[in-house]
Amino acid sequence: MYKGKARAYTNIALIKYWGKKDEALILPMNNSLSLTLDAFYTETSITFAEDFAEDRFFLDGIEQSAAATKKISAFLDMIRSEADCPLYASIDSRNFVPTAAGLASSASGLAALAGACNEALNMQLSVEELSRLARKGSGSACRSIYGGFAEWQQGTDDTSYALQVASDDWENDLSMIFILINDQEKEVSSRDGMRRTVETSSFYDGWLTAAAKDLVTIKQAIADKDFAALGAVTEANALKMHGTTLAAQPPFTYWSPESLRAMDCVRHIRQQGLPCYFTMDAGPNVKVLCQKRDEQAILDALQANFTPEQLVLAHAGSGLTALPLENDVPKMSK
Ligand code: DP6
Repeated sequence: MYKGKARAYTNIALIKYWGKKDEALILPMNNSLSLTLDAFYTETSITFAEDFAEDRFFLDGIEQSAAATKKISAFLDMIRSEADCPLYASIDSRNFVPTAAGLASSASGLAALAGACNEALNMQLSVEELSRLARKGSGSACRSIYGGFAEWQQGTDDTSYALQVASDDWENDLSMIFILINDQEKEVSSRDGMRRTVETSSFYDGWLTAAAKDLVTIKQAIADKDFAALGAVTEANALKMHGTTLAAQPPFTYWSPESLRAMDCVRHIRQQGLPCYFTMDAGPNVKVLCQKRDEQAILDALQANFTPEQLVLAHAGSGLTALPLENDVPKMSK
């Protein structure tokens, strides 16, 4: 029996990953850049054992469906072959999220699973190798290997992974406020949404051209510690990504009326002189990037429009961490 445990934090892309050039290998159409956050994380333990007859996947203590387990099994198959381990596994994954607002993240989940396997099977992977491995579970997970800013470079199967973006710890001056918008609208998963967009959106070529330019702009903003430039390109990039969905066939959007209200609110607060900028992912929640020194004033302003339960404050989080095991179970020997 081999056991390992790890924790990974979620990340939010400031320059979005939107579209795959290879679905099986999870190779992206464009580079992306993210900030890892401390507010949401996943802790995962994995046990590989001789007497398991199949993989079993528990999330927050609840055994997951055959379909969900199958996805995890496919990821584990790759790891089993890489680590030369034939054993089935039991996975116990816990999501630490402040409220049950649909914020469970595949980024932190798959990064934590990659880390737990690395521990259990004593794979001794470098951060780049861990990032490459996590990518094959969920693209955005490759960025959660790092704290602070990370850039996922497109690359090929071997060279597609994220790297730390040097920032002189500037991320510690930044905050992100989540505005949780919980509505009942049917969701298009990011996986399906990006596929439909790549295949059908007449705006997709424009997205690729713009994303490449936005990446250059954001890296300069980080190098210069220029918050206005960082925020402006973050917001503009999110709007462009969401624009592509409107030109897909059939068209779709992740925006709800509440999302639009939140975006308006952020613009309004900014016009009042408090620098803040929004971004959005494959769902209705709105995330507000600001400087730590302004976070309380911005929270106060947002509280006039949203309930305290809807607002979650996050700061920069750390990278993937191996965790000690509760009892002394051996790792696989190298
Ligand atoms: C909008 O990483 O969840 O959040 O690779 O198919 O698992 P898969 O997709 P996923 O997509 C994230 C999309 C996004 C933007 C981003 O995080 O870069």
